[in-house]
Amino acid sequence: GSGAHVAALVIGTGYGGSVAALRLAQAGVDVHMIEMGKAWDTPGADGKIFCNTREPDYRSYWLRTRTKAPLNYFLGFPIDRDIPRHTGVLDAEEFAGITVYQGRGVGGGSLVNGGMAVTPKRENFPAVLPSVDPAEMYGVYYPRANAGLGVATVDPAWFETTACYQYARVGRKHAQRSGFPFVFVPDVYDWDYMEQEAAGSVPQSALAGEILYGNNYGKKSLQKTYLARAAATGRVTISPLHRVTSVAPAGGSYTVTIEQIDTTGAVVTTKTVTADRVFFAAGSVGTSKLLVKLKATGVLPALNGEVGKGWGDNGNVMCGRANHLWDPTGKLQSAIPCCGIDNWTAGGAFAEVAPLPTGIETYASFYLSITDNPNRARFSWNASAGRVELSWQTAWKQPSIDMAKSIFDKINAKEGTIYRTDLFGVYKIWGDHLTYHPLGGAVLNKATDNYGRLTAYPGLYVIDGALIPGNTTVNPFVTITALAERNIEHIIAADL
Ligand code: FDA
Repeated sequence: GSGAHVAALVIGTGYGGSVAALRLAQAGVDVHMIEMGKAWDTPGADGKIFCNTREPDYRSYWLRTRTKAPLNYFLGFPIDRDIPRHTGVLDAEEFAGITVYQGRGVGGGSLVNGGMAVTPKRENFPAVLPSVDPAEMYGVYYPRANAGLGVATVDPAWFETTACYQYARVGRKHAQRSGFPFVFVPDVYDWDYMEQEAAGSVPQSALAGEILYGNNYGKKSLQKTYLARAAATGRVTISPLHRVTSVAPAGGSYTVTIEQIDTTGAVVTTKTVTADRVFFAAGSVGTSKLLVKLKATGVLPALNGEVGKGWGDNGNVMCGRANHLWDPTGKLQSAIPCCGIDNWTAGGAFAEVAPLPTGIETYASFYLSITDNPNRARFSWNASAGRVELSWQTAWKQPSIDMAKSIFDKINAKEGTIYRTDLFGVYKIWGDHLTYHPLGGAVLNKATDNYGRLTAYPGLYVIDGALIPGNTTVNPFVTITALAERNIEHIIAADL
């Protein structure tokens, strides 16, 4: 309730926030987590908590009246549709040059993501987090994160025979015929459950095309891993549909202002609590927006000048290829990707072979590439508009397109195929308008010290993707989790 005092307040319930909550609680600290999204623990009228990707309804988008699907066209026709405005699970947050997709609800991005759980190659790590000792990350914190998240890889024998990975086998064949290294990619999906889905013995989730708008069964989201363990300590409470708007110094502790919202997004009431320690875990965008606003409006004026800087898109770019009729990708496609092309070292991309779970044969191979895009944007406060803006420009994706082209031009030449031009608009090849992987804005050892402390304000910490300077060379959440494990261990030992 309003006026309460808490030892530790965590803003956000994604990867960084969940790690912080669990480890603080295990150390005997009472933790209150504030989450702007819903709890996602109650089924709708159809008996399901989340809606299907093919039938987006009120549960799909965060406060929109029309869907904004990442692939917004098919065969040249727009596929977006009207929906009731609701605090749905996927936020398509629009900045001037990029749409940033993020999860909203208890579990953050783990609710909506593909679950691809990738540890960067050790040789690439110095570029990912230059101030962090690789030996401690690869010796202790990456293994701890992988164990805590429940990471595993598809059974290779089952992969070879199941209909639902025909699209991935076609992707592999084409990659290998052009000489590109092909890899299995670990995931937090329960692979035994997926095999049972294929056998028809359990309700389908990955095999029913569930992705983007939540996954009803097989994915081990944070609610099933870190947050379940945090709840079991008895020291963690979570307030869903509560949004932090301010964190202000108050004589050694902090006054946190929180708006409670209803499922239309309307503010029901505004509360304040005081906290000895506040952990910013609102995601790269959420944390950056809060810190930039609080610095610019004089609430936390001593935050340093690096706040808001160093934001990157993890080099995300998407494309599709049109296969020949003798290379069908299958009408049954697991919505959980399990493999990709690892051409990073050669300057190309880490490209996942992604599903197009439309339920019909598309003869399309679809890829999400992660590339070494060098561009970095910054968040800034627009006082007259009263909002935080991001300086990213759409044209800054060109290096990513060029890197992805170095792979897919070659495959197309070898296979005698062409790019699909009907997935992102009318005659548009590249999905260059979005990212799923926002990173940075409060970079480790720049905006914070080397453990995420906002040193001008003792007791304030950043512990999420905002710490990572724009690129992880692979999908980011294992690195976000491992860095949070490293930082919270040090903070508990040194500060508590
Ligand atoms: P995260 O975004 O998870 O959590 C932040 C939480 O804070 C959210 O729940 C948000 O609602 C809340 N919040 C924000 N502002 C707040 C405020 N002011 N008050 C209260 N709460 C607030 N990664 C990967 O490794 N493998 C993959 O396969 C994918 N796939 C993928 C698909 C899609 C569609 C998306 C959108 C993303 C992915 N990702 C991914 C990315 C991954 O999900 C992402 O990197 C992490 O969720 C980021 O973790 P954080 O802890 O930084 O924040």
